[in-house]
Amino acid sequence: MERKIIDRMEKTGQITQEELSALLLCNDDKNMEYLAKRAREMTWRYYGNKIYIRGLIEFTNFCRNDCYYCGIRRSNGNAERYRLSEEDILSAAGLGYRLGFRTFVLQGGEDPWFTDEKICALVSALKSNYPDCAVTLSIGEKKRDSYQAYFDAGADRYLLRHETADEVHYGKLHPPVLSLSDRRQCLYDLKDIGYQTGCGFMVGSPGQTIKTLFKDLMLIKELSPHMVGIGPFIPHRDTPFSQEAPGTIERTLRLLSIIRLIHPRVLLPATTALGTIHPDGRRQGILAGANVVMPNLSPWHVREKYALYNGKVSSGGEAAEGLQALSEELKHIGYQIAVEIGHSKV
Ligand code: 5AD
Repeated sequence: MERKIIDRMEKTGQITQEELSALLLCNDDKNMEYLAKRAREMTWRYYGNKIYIRGLIEFTNFCRNDCYYCGIRRSNGNAERYRLSEEDILSAAGLGYRLGFRTFVLQGGEDPWFTDEKICALVSALKSNYPDCAVTLSIGEKKRDSYQAYFDAGADRYLLRHETADEVHYGKLHPPVLSLSDRRQCLYDLKDIGYQTGCGFMVGSPGQTIKTLFKDLMLIKELSPHMVGIGPFIPHRDTPFSQEAPGTIERTLRLLSIIRLIHPRVLLPATTALGTIHPDGRRQGILAGANVVMPNLSPWHVREKYALYNGKVSSGGEAAEGLQALSEELKHIGYQIAVEIGHSKV
């Protein structure tokens, strides 16, 4: 039964809510291994055995938003706030370049201190120092003109998870000033401007159901993003969701495989959250069809402060400095780290 669904999904790129339900509730390990195998073979078809690396620079943890799940939400008075200087950011990128990174991801909270002018200056500085690199921004919801300005300054890609494609669920995760329709608008603006665009969601966020997950998959089909970031929800002690259960590795892996099969050419990271809930999470993510890892390039003294959730790993294979170890680990399972810029094939 499940195998039939998997084969059909691979052939047509389609899935129904009933089929999603069957795959997520299935207890048969053999069939789930089959799902992962079909997905990783699909990854190989388009990307071979290459794993793309992105150097993540978490440059500010100030945020004007108050998302209920997030450790750097505005009302968390226990968060130690920081901003990296332009000099720090450029030197993190310099370190990354020497280590072999050709994509830098500037990620931060929605911090009004970083005006459009400052962001544009950062992007141009990165692009002029490293013309053979891609710059990805992940700084939240902005006006279309702002997105356009960053793009004109040289930004290539933008990550903005949609978090959930269900209005009611969106309202359970966010304060009323934030809305799914604004979020969707941002994503369509980004794509329209010409960014390689990434959406995504947490697996197991409070209130998530198979129905809301199905909507997430339909949004992916409709938006056709170049990248999709998913990882398990992990509660943070200083948030309203501190007592909620985390998402599971199993469900995250299944969803990675399903996304690979319904949207085959997407760039799919094995995220830090996946590596945080299970020591082997990132490797298993790759074996389930992921093909990107995003090690942390931020200066050591701020890594702990960018705590979206508790226990977030930023050392070992999650650290840019651990690239050699990561490369060995990947070699064991037949993969190699790609040194090129690694654009999406969507
Ligand atoms: N657990 C897992 N992921 C989280 N994020 C924010 N808070 C958490 C959490 N508690 C994710 C969101 C956001 C991305 C940067 O990090 O999906 O878009």
